[in-house]
Amino acid sequence: MRTLIKNGTCVTASDTFAADVWIESGKIEALTQPGTKLGQADKTIDAKGKYVIPGGIDAHTHLDMPFGGTNSIDDFESGTLAAAHGGTTTIVDFAIQKKGGSLSEALDTWHQKAEGKTLVDYAFHMIATDVPPPVLEEMGALVKEGVTSFKLFMAYPGVLLLDDQSIFRAMLRAGELGALICMHAETGLPIDVMVERALKQGHTAPIYHALTRPEVAEATGTERAIALAEMAKVPVYIVHLSAQRALERVMEARDRGLPAYAETCPQYLFLSEDDMRGKPGDEFEGAKYVCTPPLRPKHHHDHLWRGLRNYDLQVVSTDHCPFCMKGQKELGRGDFSKIPNGMPGIETRLHLLYEGVRDGRISLNRFVDITATAPAKIFGLYPRKGTIAIGADADVVVWDPNKKFELSHKNLHMKSDYAPFEGKTVIGAPSQVLSRGELIIDEGKTLGKKGRGQFLRRGTFAL
Ligand code: URP
Ligand code: ZN
Ligand code: ZN
Repeated sequence: MRTLIKNGTCVTASDTFAADVWIESGKIEALTQPGTKLGQADKTIDAKGKYVIPGGIDAHTHLDMPFGGTNSIDDFESGTLAAAHGGTTTIVDFAIQKKGGSLSEALDTWHQKAEGKTLVDYAFHMIATDVPPPVLEEMGALVKEGVTSFKLFMAYPGVLLLDDQSIFRAMLRAGELGALICMHAETGLPIDVMVERALKQGHTAPIYHALTRPEVAEATGTERAIALAEMAKVPVYIVHLSAQRALERVMEARDRGLPAYAETCPQYLFLSEDDMRGKPGDEFEGAKYVCTPPLRPKHHHDHLWRGLRNYDLQVVSTDHCPFCMKGQKELGRGDFSKIPNGMPGIETRLHLLYEGVRDGRISLNRFVDITATAPAKIFGLYPRKGTIAIGADADVVVWDPNKKFELSHKNLHMKSDYAPFEGKTVIGAPSQVLSRGELIIDEGKTLGKKGRGQFLRRGTFAL
């Protein structure tokens, strides 16, 4: 099967050029001068007036994830369907080690969750919750399986939190293996005391989720994560960075030449603490926006956009962790600490970030970089994924810069019963989405079949 995408403008992280894209056997076969005859194509897509960009890579998703007595509502079927509709053709989801359990057990569980369900390609990080010597040893087996990054938590005491000595040991081991440590960098022990005190004082509304997880807890966590990584002489990747002071810690480290990397998420660029206050007369509406770290006051937006522009932040992923209001977020009515943490976002990342291009906050090339190329490089998927180049997988999005799209629940495929950006209309959306050369989404119609997605064994950290 040979496909030609003609008349489009190709955009990579570094270049913008007019070219026809020829696809054969799932790979990009050739990039030619527009109009060049290179034999016959079985299928032709006319991308006149449109951009041809690499499929998005969402390096932070939680599909079918247990949290707070319930499971995130998108499984690998609905989650990857939604991803594809939004122009994302690869996800990296998180498997979670049970406390006292092995890493391979967790990996098997997550393989079972994904097997036969996914529409796009997928890989796994491993959340390590307990790292005695046998588990440190086992990290090597995981790397051989292509799970080359490990998320550690400084928050959620008793559930996910690891102490500094365990973090340091895991970092040293990651260094030996060429694996990457991803850090949830909030100092969690005092946060739990703040939560306890707020509840005792009768503060039960969703906004207290934000007020008990202050910016300083994230800044000090980020600084500590970077300090431990510096001592271990390993790179570190800070996940879901939300705030100015945490960003400053990353900038300071990078200025000293340390391999510190960080991602932010659309919710921290477009939403704010105000959304968590709910509606007049219904403060619990704010539960829709309860995620961790929490949404911050609006003034943080400019700092994060500047971080993206200046390469201090490398990636925008979604931290897609969706729950319904009904039956899930509701678990925290009367006690904000019981609201499952997380928001839907896997489908709307590119739409939202393209607003940054339209507003002049980031260039088109930077848009491609932070949504596809940089995550591919950082997480061992490059050059197979994340760029438009000869020999790369033909994961390609034909992006219509003029298409209007309303980010409303009725238009989206994510299973949560609300949309965080309900009513917001963006300009710029995918027309066609191809995964390994197969047209899986065409003008909003799903053509790809569930189960066609492949597990990706990732390479070790190469930057
Ligand atoms: O609120 C969030 N972020 N939920 C998912 C868990 C995590 O820490 O990434
Ligand atoms: Zn986290
Ligand atoms: Zn997460």
